[in-house]
Amino acid sequence: MNTLLSLLLLSTATALPSLILPRNNATNTTLPWDAGATTQYPIHDSCNATQRRQIETGLSETIALVDHAKAHILRWGNESSIYRKYFGDRPSFEAIGAYELVSNGNKGNVLFRCDNPDGNCKLDGWAGHWRGTNATDETVICDLSYTSRRSLTTMCALGYTVSGSETNTFWASDLLHRLFHMPAIGQNWVEHFADGYLEAVELAAGNRSVSTRDSEALQYFALEAYAFDIAVPGVGCLGDVEGLGEEQEDDGDDLPDNCHTHEGGEIHCT
Ligand SMILES: *[C@@H]1O[C@H](CO)[C@@H](O)[C@H](O)[C@H]1NC(C)=O
Ligand SMILES: *[C@@H]1O[C@H](CO)[C@@H](O)[C@H](O)[C@H]1NC(C)=O
Ligand SMILES: *[C@@H]1O[C@H](CO)[C@@H](O)[C@H](O)[C@H]1NC(C)=O
Ligand SMILES: *[C@@H]1O[C@H](CO)[C@@H](O)[C@H](O)[C@H]1NC(C)=O
Ligand SMILES: *[C@@H]1O[C@H](CO)[C@@H](O)[C@H](O)[C@H]1NC(C)=O
Ligand SMILES: *[C@@H]1O[C@H](CO)[C@@H](O)[C@H](O)[C@H]1NC(C)=O
Ligand SMILES: [Zn+2]
Repeated sequence: MNTLLSLLLLSTATALPSLILPRNNATNTTLPWDAGATTQYPIHDSCNATQRRQIETGLSETIALVDHAKAHILRWGNESSIYRKYFGDRPSFEAIGAYELVSNGNKGNVLFRCDNPDGNCKLDGWAGHWRGTNATDETVICDLSYTSRRSLTTMCALGYTVSGSETNTFWASDLLHRLFHMPAIGQNWVEHFADGYLEAVELAAGNRSVSTRDSEALQYFALEAYAFDIAVPGVGCLGDVEGLGEEQEDDGDDLPDNCHTHEGGEIHCT
């Protein structure tokens, strides 16, 4: 037994060099199939050490948020009342795919920068913006983000409720929204069809096929699943949905019904 084992070991050991050498001969190696993959979201040199650290941490939280959203759907599908609330009877492929792209898609064609190249950061209340036709793959993060966006660890604390608070309360969901605007991630397929909690819920109730690719529905679903499963298990922090109707009626702007102003001033019409 021992002899056999050492013989095996010996023969393996002696066989190794001849097996490995040709493969190590770099003069003609084939690149691995996924050579050049970008697995981390790129952050531009214009971001200083502390800005980079906050954006990186925020993006890690975005990935934690979408990974949980995906896991919740994979486990429960439409048995989940949270799923049915935001996605109704729709099949789960699209929502799972959207979250998966954010988490595991190639990240090369996305860039976060901090140098305010379009000058928009000086506008009141702008925490960042998509560069649109100036650079479709780029997102600018403005200084306001660093003082206003919160860690997911504060989920369900400091007055936050899923239905009553803005989705951009957290770095995780703010950056998720921004990633959905990147053609490499959102593929011009994840869009704005609903604005706010009530409209997102209405989309699903109306069995609209777009609910599973609505930016708001995907953000709200991920936030509510995280609140209910992870932050305060079995309880979450949905907030007072009853009182919401009147409140949202009041903050009317002069845009047509199918349009909304984005955080950052952009106007979206559907
Ligand atoms: C590497 O490959 C080249 C060409 O195929 C050959 O000439 C050379 O001897 C090889 N080197 C080693 C260390 O095997
Ligand atoms: C190296 O690979 C190239 C392209 O596949 C091939 O044309 C060439 O003959 C190879 N050279 C050797 C020494 O195997
Ligand atoms: C990075 O820039 C911000 C301004 O946006 C500044 O407050 C911060 O101190 C800078 N950090 C470092 C390490 O220079
Ligand atoms: C849930 O999905 C299954 C297919 O996976 C379908 O048969 C069923 O009707 C759906 N139920 C609801 C309430 O949407
Ligand atoms: C694109 O650049 C122009 C000129 O700098 C600027 O006026 C415009 O606001 C920029 N667009 C966006 C979406 O930032
Ligand atoms: C929702 O839409 C799907 C496909 O468009 C359809 O099969 C299903 O019956 C609809 N469900 C309801 C409740 O209308
Ligand atoms: Zn948007």
